[in-house]
Amino acid sequence: MNMNSTMKLNNGVEMPIIGLGTWKMPDGKTAEQAVLWALEAGYRHIDTAAIYGNEASVGRAIKKSGIPRNELFITTKLWNENHDDPERAFNDSLGRLGLDYVDLYLIHFPVPERNESWRVLEKLHIQKRCRAIGVSNFTIRHLEQLLKTAKVAPAANQVEFHPYLYQKELLDYCKEKGIAVEAYSPLTHKVKLNDKKLAGVAASYGKSPAQILIRWCVQRGMAVLPKSVHKERISENADVFDFEISEKDMGLLDGFNEGLRTCWDPTDAP
Ligand SMILES: NC(=O)c1ccc[n+]([C@@H]2O[C@H](COP(=O)([O-])OP(=O)(O)OC[C@H]3O[C@@H](n4cnc5c(N)ncnc54)[C@H](OP(=O)(O)O)[C@@H]3O)[C@@H](O)[C@H]2O)c1
Repeated sequence: MNMNSTMKLNNGVEMPIIGLGTWKMPDGKTAEQAVLWALEAGYRHIDTAAIYGNEASVGRAIKKSGIPRNELFITTKLWNENHDDPERAFNDSLGRLGLDYVDLYLIHFPVPERNESWRVLEKLHIQKRCRAIGVSNFTIRHLEQLLKTAKVAPAANQVEFHPYLYQKELLDYCKEKGIAVEAYSPLTHKVKLNDKKLAGVAASYGKSPAQILIRWCVQRGMAVLPKSVHKERISENADVFDFEISEKDMGLLDGFNEGLRTCWDPTDAP
């Protein structure tokens, strides 16, 4: 495996395993530069969202990079307050990105209107304006509700995932249903990067804590979306293909689970 490695979505579309997260990247120079560094470092998958407010910067970086569009995998998301007109929200995102399609369009959070909005996403997908459609922050319950009426099954579910929040049941369910899991906040949003247990594992592989967290997700069969605005860290987070975590250490990392949520908890979302 390497930075060109992909996972096949349930509609045959190939999604690069490592993507650059862009949440909290300030719009403008910072986001644009970070995306450019990532593309230089070999990333081909960028994860943004309307609510991040940086789609235009992502779009400018894509253009500046000169990389052919069909070699890139771009994700954006429908924000909670825009479910009154998902098609307009989608068109606005495309406009800001300066693209005529995205590779993956996600419902950002399981708001009550999600099943009606899904029909609009299905239409956009059929029109080939997004190569795949999916969801984010969906629990098994939300997925089951959606699957009851969906004509197109979600290709991906983007959720918080790291050893400190090992959502094994959700991962197993998604694998069984052919839904790719994308690990967001894979570095625990920085909360556990100085954890001693993690540092011990990292030292034994001569790798950084961040690299261990990313590699754990890769070996558990997920796509991973680390975010950084620093050039060295962007490269470091991609340098996870020259080692393998042993079965024993994978088990040890699994045991770090403490149900830690650094972002949203969708468990009780109706
Ligand atoms: N769908 C959703 O609802 C949702 C929710 C949350 C996140 N996401 C997606 O997932 C992506 C990643 O999640 P996240 O942004 O919450 O956090 P994250 O990737 O878990 O952690 C990012 C933090 O770690 C730092 N960092 C990055 N690489 C590092 C390294 N090698 N060593 C030390 N520190 C490092 C970053 O700082 P610097 O930037 O200063 O380097 C930043 O503070 C988001 O950007 C977004 O694309 C989606």
